[in-house]
Amino acid sequence: MGLFITFEGIEGSGKTTQIRMAGGYLKKRGVPFVLTGEPGGTPVGTELRKILLDKTSLALSCRTELLLFAADRAQHVEEVIGPSLENGEVVLCDRFSDATVAYQGYGRKQDIEPIQAICDFASQSLISDMTLLFDISADKGLDRVINRARGMGNVPLEDRFEKEHLKFHETIRKGYLALAKENPGRFRIIDSSQDIDAVHREVCIHLEGLIERRGYAVQ
Ligand code: TMP
Repeated sequence: MGLFITFEGIEGSGKTTQIRMAGGYLKKRGVPFVLTGEPGGTPVGTELRKILLDKTSLALSCRTELLLFAADRAQHVEEVIGPSLENGEVVLCDRFSDATVAYQGYGRKQDIEPIQAICDFASQSLISDMTLLFDISADKGLDRVINRARGMGNVPLEDRFEKEHLKFHETIRKGYLALAKENPGRFRIIDSSQDIDAVHREVCIHLEGLIERRGYAVQ
């Protein structure tokens, strides 16, 4: 069995940059890995992602949104994550079930219990070996998103979630921190307001500890 490591955080937390850098680190160390993410880690998921993030899908109901994220995950576990873990690879995944609890549960203020049951069903009860939570205040995170959008010549925010107001993202952050408190064994909280290289060094320390404990031959 491989290792399943998830990367979580609010918008602008820098997790997507960090997951790429983590992939570079594993490559350098000769550890077999797969880099993937949700929503959109499979061809079916790519179609679901378009619906989920489309600015014009504002009429999507909370339950529909939840079930589409769950459908994306079911396909992703079946097609990519499960087989890669069986193959002994380290799977680095940009968001997983914690994102659904944080966004659809805390963010959309839906009951957590049925959401967790739906996530369990979709993921075949797969739980990460380690979840890195890139923690940053919602206002700093959104500032980064706005600057990134401006840098790409895009003044309006890019998708449905990034358009949500500050309070929504603050609630999601609280949700993630609550999840980390409930699951101290698998969560590692990283202060993501630090510069990119400092954050990366912390990620490497966590990765190294885990891959060595699991007996991967590290170069
Ligand atoms: P990304 O920006 O990390 O690619 O994620 C896309 C958006 O989807 C992001 O705003 C978070 C949101 N999301 C949920 O609301 N629930 C989920 O279960 C997942 C995986 C993502």
